Parts: sequence; C-alpha cells; structure tokens
Amino acid sequence: SERTLVLVKPDGVRRGVVGEVISRIERKGLTLVALELRTLTRETAEAHYAEHSSKPFFGELVEFITGGPLVAMVVEGPRAIEAFRALAGATDPVAATPGTIRGDLALEIGENIVHGSDAPDSAEREIKLFFPEV
Ligand code: GTP
Ligand code: MG
Repeated sequence: SERTLVLVKPDGVRRGVVGEVISRIERKGLTLVALELRTLTRETAEAHYAEHSSKPFFGELVEFITGGPLVAMVVEGPRAIEAFRALAGATDPVAATPGTIRGDLALEIGENIVHGSDAPDSAEREIKLFFPEV
C-alpha cells in the first residue's frame, strides 16, 4: 500500500466541491488517513511547488495557492499515487478526459481544483511538509 498527498486547492474550496472530491476518492476505494482545512503560508507554498520555482507562472501559482483555505489530505491505497492522478485527470482541464475531476469540474490550467503527488519521492516529501506527524 502507498500514500499520496492530495490537495483540494482554494478554487475547489471556493467552488464548494470538497465533498465531491472526497466522495470520488472514497468511491474509488482509497482511504483518508489525514485531513485538514488550512491556509498555506508563502513559505509552505514555495516549498511545496519548489520544482516550479523557475517557471514564468510561479508567482501566480504561489499567490493562487495561498489565496484562501485549501483542504490537504493524505490518501492511502494500492498504487494510490497513480490511482489519484487518474481520478484527477490531465493538468489542463480542457484536455482532461470527462469523468475525471478536472475534466468534469474545471476549465483553466491555473485553477484545476486538485493536486496529487506525482511520484513516491515527491509524495514522501509533500506528506512530511503538510503532515509531519503522520
Ligand atoms: P499538481 O498536482 O497541482 O502539481 O498539478 P500537475 O502535477 O498536474 O501539474 P504540474 O506539477 O506540472 O504543475 C503544477 C500546477 O501549476 C498545475 O496544477 C497548475 O495549477 C499550475 N500550472 C501549470 N502550468 C501552468 C501555466 O501554464 N499557467 C498557470 N497559471 N499555472 C500553471
Ligand atoms: Mg505536479
């Protein structure tokens, strides 16, 4: 079994789709092992998205992710990282397949509702950053 960090980003909280995202995770058969509503500090946001620090959209990304409360969770299950990325759909919501979270609920790449860790090393790093106690 594997763990992944999932975020319902501030756009998802604002849009009122937290329940919808959690419901899809649960219906898939994945398990919630930690969950918290919180507003990120700039420091945490920059650490979380460090791999994107040289990208032109980094400033916008940090502003967006710190701009309101988000829901952070640790999700567990067999191949949880890949399983959640499949539920989430492609980064660009217009390209994301209908039936996925982004394909069904979003339109803009900068406001794509959810985050999911993309590999075992990033999952471990992100879970430590958000939930050092888990
Ligand atoms: P995350 O799960 O959020 O990490 O998304 P991802 O792994 O599908 O995409 P990636 O890690 O490549 O990019 C991180 C986030 O940066 C994306 O989810 C987008 O919200 C944002 N992003 C990526 N490309 C762009 C862009 O061209 N413009 C803007 N504004 N945001 C972008
Ligand atoms: Mg990513």
